[in-house]
Amino acid sequence: MKAVILAGGSGTRLYPVTQVLNKHLLPVYNKPMIYYPFSLSMLLKIREVLFIVNEEDLGAFKSLFKDGSHIGMNIQYKVQKKPNGLAEGLIIAEEFLNGDDVFYLLGDNIFFGHDLISILTQAKKDVELNNGAYVFGYYVSDPERFGIVEFDESGKVLSIEEKPKKPKSSYAVVGMYFYDSEATKIAKTVKPSHRGELEITSVNEEYLNRGKLKVKQLGRGFAWFDAGTHDSFLDAGEFVATIEKKTGLMIGCIEEIAYSNGWITKEELLRLAEPLKKTGYGKYLIKLAREEI
Ligand code: G1P
Repeated sequence: MKAVILAGGSGTRLYPVTQVLNKHLLPVYNKPMIYYPFSLSMLLKIREVLFIVNEEDLGAFKSLFKDGSHIGMNIQYKVQKKPNGLAEGLIIAEEFLNGDDVFYLLGDNIFFGHDLISILTQAKKDVELNNGAYVFGYYVSDPERFGIVEFDESGKVLSIEEKPKKPKSSYAVVGMYFYDSEATKIAKTVKPSHRGELEITSVNEEYLNRGKLKVKQLGRGFAWFDAGTHDSFLDAGEFVATIEKKTGLMIGCIEEIAYSNGWITKEELLRLAEPLKKTGYGKYLIKLAREEI
């Protein structure tokens, strides 16, 4: 399985901040927003990642992540010319995926929760073994904003709809999806929605029609932020700050994950920390290398 992270779009809901800055590079507390979804791929040990970005942001992304080898990853980049919708990312990724399964992530989604990685690992294995799609539902107070999934009493999925005016449930489909190798083919058949976008929900709906969509509900013990509005962006930053200050441990620290996965040595970690050593982030990496954390 490979990972694809969609980090394009115009970020209109964060204007005027995103008029000249890409949303995914804005700081969520102490690191760029994109570190959080990217770190999930690392935690799942998926080392081949494609970033899909806007043309004008390609340089910034490349200077931030390079080819990924400094953190044991293999990173590639592709441009999305226009914000044509999330499903288009699966088409843009066709060559990169080359028939492989995909962990598809939205660059503005931030997750935190006990057992998250074991739940995701289970979903990954399921798609690798049984094919199909595996997505996650999360109870929200504002279901009109999201893709919404409806269940019957037994938990069977009945419908999935994008931003419904009259939501049939309060379960939003969060922005991380596991798909088998059919995903690109399906995405190519999707027609633009009334907002003119190729919706990821249409891809999920096709998997549902084929009887190949699994949905797991993420319970109350999880935090999920779609950091694409001013309020949710602020909430996400405050959440990360609160947890990190309380525990002294970082969320989404990519050098730490590379080190704990055994992909970089202690010396390499210290080398990465060196230019940052005056910052809290750099000091944290140095503490890790000295086994003080
Ligand atoms: C997108 C998807 C939606 C999903 C949401 C999660 O919404 O279209 O189905 O629930 O991401 O963040 P958008 O960010 O395009 O409004």
